[in-house]
Amino acid sequence: MSQRLLLSLTLWASCSPSNAGTAALSQPRVRCRASRYPVAVDCSWTPLGAPNSTMATSFVATYRLGVAAQQQSQSCLQPNPQATRCTIPHVHLFSMVPYVLNVTAVHPSGASSSLLAFVAEQIIKPDPPEGVRLRTAGQRLQMLWHPPASWPFPDIFSLKYRIRYRRHGASHFRQVGPIEATTFTLRAAQPRAKYFVQVSAQDLMDYGKPSDWSLPGQAERTPLNP
Ligand SMILES: *[C@@H]1O[C@H](CO)[C@@H](O)[C@H](O)[C@H]1NC(C)=O
Ligand SMILES: *[C@@H]1O[C@H](CO)[C@@H](O)[C@H](O)[C@H]1NC(C)=O
Repeated sequence: MSQRLLLSLTLWASCSPSNAGTAALSQPRVRCRASRYPVAVDCSWTPLGAPNSTMATSFVATYRLGVAAQQQSQSCLQPNPQATRCTIPHVHLFSMVPYVLNVTAVHPSGASSSLLAFVAEQIIKPDPPEGVRLRTAGQRLQMLWHPPASWPFPDIFSLKYRIRYRRHGASHFRQVGPIEATTFTLRAAQPRAKYFVQVSAQDLMDYGKPSDWSLPGQAERTPLNP
């Protein structure tokens, strides 16, 4: 697989330098991410050095599984031809060959393609966990959260979590994890102190990258006692 990936990267590199015919329109810079693995891969791009004309650039996005040019290309689904993003539905799990995405910017002055090769498992990056909250339980402070809603099958493709917390006024975070639970008790915490807490999610099998840190945890409203 690594040999094929290398080949595809070489292919990508060989296609990179813009030639004279397309100098006015340089390649789109393409990125792909699997934050809802295994349902889809989402790709986006920014046109580099867009021409100074006001005429809209449109894009043709196709992909194939494998580097061989004779492999059949399929459309990467765009909401419209001007959109700078597309979606590859139905991810092929643990493919031995990489996906190759071809994004072509089309403009009256010419067309220019970017190729990006990737393996779906390597570009997994979940969205951050949601609903992070803090609850006082006696002398303890309990954190709770939900897996990201965009992660489709948390029961099958499990996530693990890292926690970081800092007492109000402290300069350093303490980091804990990874753990598989969606709750964590800060044992040494002082319940009356204010804490800044965040959670990050990663695929349990260590594929791809951890998510960004979540929004800071909010203190859960406790019922008012008379
Ligand atoms: C803008 O486009 C015109 C016509 O194609 C060209 O003559 C001019 O040099 C361009 N300007 C810049 C800043 O690229
Ligand atoms: C990329 O797509 C464009 C437009 O469909 C096509 O002309 C070009 O040959 C493709 N490049 C590769 C390397 O497949």
